[in-house]
This record gives sequence, C-alpha cells and structure tokens, in this order.
Amino acid sequence: MSMNYKVINTKSFGDENGKLISFEKGVNCPFEVKRAFYIYDTKGETARGCHANKNSEFLLIAISGSCKIKINDGKNEEIVELSNPYTALYLDKMLWKTMYDFSHNAILLVLASTNYDEHEYIRDYDVYLKERNSII
Ligand code: TYD
Repeated sequence: MSMNYKVINTKSFGDENGKLISFEKGVNCPFEVKRAFYIYDTKGETARGCHANKNSEFLLIAISGSCKIKINDGKNEEIVELSNPYTALYLDKMLWKTMYDFSHNAILLVLASTNYDEHEYIRDYDVYLKERNSII
C-alpha cells in the first residue's frame, strides 16, 4: 500500500542563540509554494479539514504544540502526529484529511502549491470516493 504522503524530517540550523528551519523547493519541499496559512486558537475537540483538494499539495508543520492528521485515500487510513517544528507532513492532491487533537498552544503552518480556490475543494466524502475511484 502506498498512500501519497510523506513525513519529512528536516534540518534545523542553530546554536545557543536559537534555531532556524527553512523549507525550499527541491530541497525539502516538493513543490513551489504559492500560499501559506496557519491554524491556531483551536479548541481541544476541534476537527478541521474534512475535505480533499483536487489540485493542491500541502506541507504541514506544527511550528508550535502538536496535532494529529488523519489521512484517507478512499481505501486506507493513516494517522500522523506532528509535535515538533522540524517535521513536515507532505500531502499530495486528492487525499481526504482531518486535523484534530490540537494541543492548547498549537500553531499548524500549512504551505500550499496553489492559490486559494474554493472550487477545488471536495467537502462531501461520498463525492470524494466517486472521484477518487474514477482516477485509480
Ligand atoms: P477551511 O477550508 O474551512 O479551513 P480548514 O481546512 O482548516 O478546515 O477554511 C476556513 C475559512 O478560511 C473559509 O472561509 C475559507 C478561508 N480560507 C481562505 O480564505 N484562504 C485559504 O487559503 C484557506 C485555507 C481558507
């Protein structure tokens, strides 16, 4: 089984003055970043996402705190926990994802390969399954 996601552990540059992490296309980010957003101020029971994107690839980084991401490709489901700033989760297009179990201080940074376009979102799981099965 191979779902199209990848956990990327990247290098941090640092010393006693602090640390720095960079994501760069072709180095530790597989796509050109067109957009960045972050999710914060979540409540413990919050579940976000619950959708698939037809065109967007993403890199998710818990730059503060932690959260879990449930990834589903219509056949298999896996859960990845992000709990440090040097681990990124790459998600290909057309994966159904749910973010949940946010710690109280969580900030989830998301880098995206596209500009925002509501039309590329699939928010109905049955519709997702139909589209997914038609491309596999
Ligand atoms: P939503 O997709 O529901 O967030 P999540 O994936 O975390 O569940 O988006 C929440 C709102 O923010 C919605 O009104 C659309 C808006 N939004 C933008 O305007 N630009 C963006 O890049 C994103 C991701 C969302």
